[in-house]
Amino acid sequence: MTLQTATNITWHAGAFTRQEREQILGQKGLTIWFTGLSASGKSTIATALEQSLLHAGVNAYRLDGDNIRFGLNKNLGFGSADRAENIRRIAEVAKLFADSTAIALTAFISPYVADRDAARQLHVEAGIPFIEVFVDAPLDVVESRDPKGLYKKAKAGEIKEFTGISAPYEAPPKPEVHIRTDQVDVDGAVKVILSYLIEQGHLDAFKVQAKQ
Ligand SMILES: Nc1ncnc2c1ncn2[C@@H]1O[C@H](COP(=O)(O)OP(=O)(O)OP(=O)(O)O)[C@@H](O)[C@H]1O
Ligand SMILES: [Mg+2]
Repeated sequence: MTLQTATNITWHAGAFTRQEREQILGQKGLTIWFTGLSASGKSTIATALEQSLLHAGVNAYRLDGDNIRFGLNKNLGFGSADRAENIRRIAEVAKLFADSTAIALTAFISPYVADRDAARQLHVEAGIPFIEVFVDAPLDVVESRDPKGLYKKAKAGEIKEFTGISAPYEAPPKPEVHIRTDQVDVDGAVKVILSYLIEQGHLDAFKVQAKQ
C-alpha cells in the first residue's frame, strides 16, 4: 500500500460518467496487462495487437517497459521495491487511459504476483476490466532469442537482479489469457486475444472483423 501523502485535496468529478463517455465515443476502456519473461514476446504481441485495434478504429495505446523507464519512471531501478513502484505507477496510468475509453496495453515483465494483483485490484475497484495475458515461453527458448543481448549479459554477471536468471518470475496462477509463444506465432497470439475480447463482450466483433 502506498501512503497518501498529500492532504487537503478533493476529487473533482467531470461532467460525464465513464458510461456516458463510452456511449459518446463508441468504445469501452479496459487494460490488457502482458506479463512474462524478457524476450517472451510481450512487446511484439502488444505492438501487433495495438496495430490491429487501431486498424479497426479502436483507440488503443501501449505502455511499454523500457519506454516508460525513459520518462515517467526514469528514477526507478530493478530492486523489488522499485519494481513494485514501477508497476504501481503503470497501473495508475493504464487505469487513466482505460477510464478515458482507450484500450491500454501494458508490456512489463512484472514478475511478482503481489504487484500484478495490486494493479488488478486498482482496476476492479474502479469497475474497469483488467485482462492479464501470460506471455509464456520456456527459459531456454527466451535465452536463445535474446533480442537485446540481456540474458548473455545477465549470465556474465553484468546485469544484477535479472528476471529468470538472478531474480524470480512468479507465473500468474489464473491469467485470463495464456499464450505459449514457443507454440503460437504473433498473428495467432493476436487472434487469441481479439477472440477473448469479443467473447467477453469487450469488443464489437463486426468492428474488428470488418477491418481484417
Ligand atoms: N510467437 C512469438 N510471439 C512473440 N515474439 C516472438 C514469437 N516468436 C518469436 N518471437 C521473437 O521473440 C522476441 C520477443 O521480444 P520482445 O521484445 O517482444 O520481448 P519482451 O517480452 O517485450 O521482452 P522485454 O521484457 O525484454 O521487453 C522478438 O525478437 C520476436 O520476434
Ligand atoms: Mg518488451
